[in-house]
Amino acid sequence: MAKNSKNKPLTAPPNELLKTIFSYVGRIADERDIDQLLILLADMGRDLISADRCTVWLLNRKTDELWSRVAHGLDRITIPCSAGIAGCVAMTGESLIINDPYHDSRFDKDVDKKTGYHTRNILGLPIHDGEGKIIGVFQAINKMPEPQAFSEQDLDHLLLAATYTGKALDAAMLQEEIEATQREIIFTLAETGELRSKETGFHVKRVAEFCRLFAEKHGLSADETELLRLSSPMHDIGKIAIPDSILLKPGKLTPEEWDTMKTHTTLGHEMLKHSERRLLKAAALIADEHHERWDGTGYPSGKKGEAIHIFGRITAMSDVFDALANTRVYKPAWELERIVELFKEEKGHQFDPKLVKVFLDNLDEFVKIKETYKDEPPAMES
Ligand code: C2E
Ligand code: SIN
Ligand code: SIN
Ligand code: SIN
Ligand code: FE
Ligand code: FE
Repeated sequence: MAKNSKNKPLTAPPNELLKTIFSYVGRIADERDIDQLLILLADMGRDLISADRCTVWLLNRKTDELWSRVAHGLDRITIPCSAGIAGCVAMTGESLIINDPYHDSRFDKDVDKKTGYHTRNILGLPIHDGEGKIIGVFQAINKMPEPQAFSEQDLDHLLLAATYTGKALDAAMLQEEIEATQREIIFTLAETGELRSKETGFHVKRVAEFCRLFAEKHGLSADETELLRLSSPMHDIGKIAIPDSILLKPGKLTPEEWDTMKTHTTLGHEMLKHSERRLLKAAALIADEHHERWDGTGYPSGKKGEAIHIFGRITAMSDVFDALANTRVYKPAWELERIVELFKEEKGHQFDPKLVKVFLDNLDEFVKIKETYKDEPPAMES
């Protein structure tokens, strides 16, 4: 083992180091998505110190866990702080270089056993926020090429990178927190609206999941799909401003009542449109467009075809499917066959023909969501 590697010039000279940092800095500064940022930072760390693998872990203080995203398209991974080298760094705040992990009790050998990977070297470095609090851990594994080992110099170089990019991470984490708060507000508000209209308990959840399924099958990006899933529950938020006498009327609405009811689209749009947030902007658009029809005879604007945003077209179908499949104060639930008939009839009229095809081609999956989030039978009706 190259135990004396510390004294050899194994790491990149400073100008190479700076070049590597500069090649990443622009992208890192522009990246606001925390998952992408974690991957970018890990790639930079790996390049800087010639590690085989690098992971940037973020600390979740509520659960005492570290989490990360190690590759595009993969789910987030989570490990407890109570085990392993990264957990140890997060808990103690001390950097570690371990070049003989199999003789170190802090190293969790089971991970190698499970993955078949052989860990020779580990480097761990705490990442701090602007106030000096630990927010995560830079972890590098296996100095390349074999049999080199990590040195104090590697640590210094990674530390430089960590300091330089800590701000970006800090900002992205704040962003993540804001978006988590937004999600909570959205679901809370959406459920409030739902309670008032006595729409069945899982309505917003189902509509969100139908929208996700439509978006995936229609070929929207993962990012757009998630944006739609999170914002679609707000589509009827404007119903908060509709009087109970109309909202809860068991029978058919008079023409005047109907005119009032239709304003829930523009009211929702008004409520949400002032936000600069991506999530609320999408929600505003959906509130506005979810009763437009493909043939241009919908409300409030009579937009037609692809002039209606794909989010609006998808939410429209998801909302109608859910309204028909469940009991409303003004109508009983419909059988699936009858709903399918309606969608076939309305293909190219009320609904985007491509989306009707998606629905019919994937009917089983839509039904599965409907069954998964089934409401309790209403106590008062039926
Ligand atoms: P909602 O209950 O969420 O219904 C969403 C959409 O599902 C409706 O939008 C409509 O496109 C479709 N839908 C629901 N029931 C039926 C049905 O029996 N047949 C057909 N073909 N489609 C149906 P729409 O029509 O723009 O209505 C918007 C909202 O206005 C509804 O939201 C509901 O809250 C309210 N509403 C509509 N009709 C009545 C009614 O007769 N009485 C009462 N009290 N409210 C109504
Ligand atoms: C996770 O999704 O793995 C947890 C992420 C978080 O703590 O925000
Ligand atoms: C929430 O309930 O706060 C979010 C639900 C979800 O992400 O599906
Ligand atoms: C989009 O991919 O955002 C639009 C697709 C469509 O218009 O159907
Ligand atoms: Fe609506
Ligand atoms: Fe609805």
